[in-house]
Amino acid sequence: MEGTILVTGGLGFIGSHFVRHALHRWPRCRVVNLDKMTYAANPENLSDLEGDPRYHLVRGDIADWETVERVFRDWAPDWVANFAAESHVDRSILDAHPFVRTNIEGTRVLLEAARTHPVQRFLQVSTDEVYGDIPFGSPPVSEEAPLKPSSPYSATKAAADLLCLAYARTYGIPVVIARPCNNYGPNQFPEKLIPLVIRNALAGEILPLYGDGEQVRDWIYVEEAVEGIGLALSNGRVGRIYHICAGRERRNREVVELVCELLAKETAADADQLRSRIRSVPDRPGHDRRYATDPRRSQQELGFTAAVSFEEGLRRTVRWYLEHRDWVERVVTGEYSKYYDAVYRRRWGGASR
Ligand code: TYD
Repeated sequence: MEGTILVTGGLGFIGSHFVRHALHRWPRCRVVNLDKMTYAANPENLSDLEGDPRYHLVRGDIADWETVERVFRDWAPDWVANFAAESHVDRSILDAHPFVRTNIEGTRVLLEAARTHPVQRFLQVSTDEVYGDIPFGSPPVSEEAPLKPSSPYSATKAAADLLCLAYARTYGIPVVIARPCNNYGPNQFPEKLIPLVIRNALAGEILPLYGDGEQVRDWIYVEEAVEGIGLALSNGRVGRIYHICAGRERRNREVVELVCELLAKETAADADQLRSRIRSVPDRPGHDRRYATDPRRSQQELGFTAAVSFEEGLRRTVRWYLEHRDWVERVVTGEYSKYYDAVYRRRWGGASR
């Protein structure tokens, strides 16, 4: 691949890993990162790239037509990878508006820009959550399974996917959709399960499990996920959807217990003592019990397989958070701390231990 890749949301968790991967993987490409710099974006995630002539950061909103039009005019991207999204289900339950604006309207604006400034590929980063609950005992779903989103978040992602497919058919935009499963790894914002549990364990707080903790997710290490997403961008067929998943389902309770075990191994903490802080807290409304997507298409057509075991990926993640405790404390101050106080502490009756 060569030319200019426009990455949106490249200061977020998955986006920042993708930016680094893209610069390394395609030495003849430059990356323009369009990021709104909301609470979950962190310039620190890519501070090592400052001064790299192949990397350019533009602050702006994908839902703002003038900004997007200017970026397309100034940088003439050959490739678009749309990572920009509001992604936290619990926030979407509190207020769906930013999700509709960024995830749906933002995608529409980018697609419109790609009509007047043609690109080689328009990669939409979606999610396995668009299928809703997958019943226990039934096989992982294929890319053609019906969309049945349960949360405002996943409904906006499903809507964006449908817009992309409609623009591909109606206007010939060369759209490819990647649907990753749950990502984890360094730099993930500590409102998501794994970094939240690591942070709370280190802060001596409770480890909250929603409901019975028997919900199942498929987990992929972020560095592998961005490799798969990159393959979908460079080799994916236009109009096609690809699951970027690991096929390693884990119950939330198992995930939290494994975090406790790994933290105990890496520090002087006692695993039983950490586990004793696991608390069942009121469930998320509409909580999906299971996500499970079939990885075969991306294996066969893109040559992608996730090789890092969950235990190994989680060990690397725990180590990173241990080495970056200052990073965690910095990102949980300011706007996030207000949210955390309002939602987490109050919802759970102020129980902090
Ligand atoms: P999350 O990281 O929010 O990702 P998603 O909802 O997109 O899958 O949550 C992962 C799972 O962990 C999900 O089933 C909800 C659950 N969960 C908890 O049990 N406790 C928590 O504090 C959080 C944030 C999530």
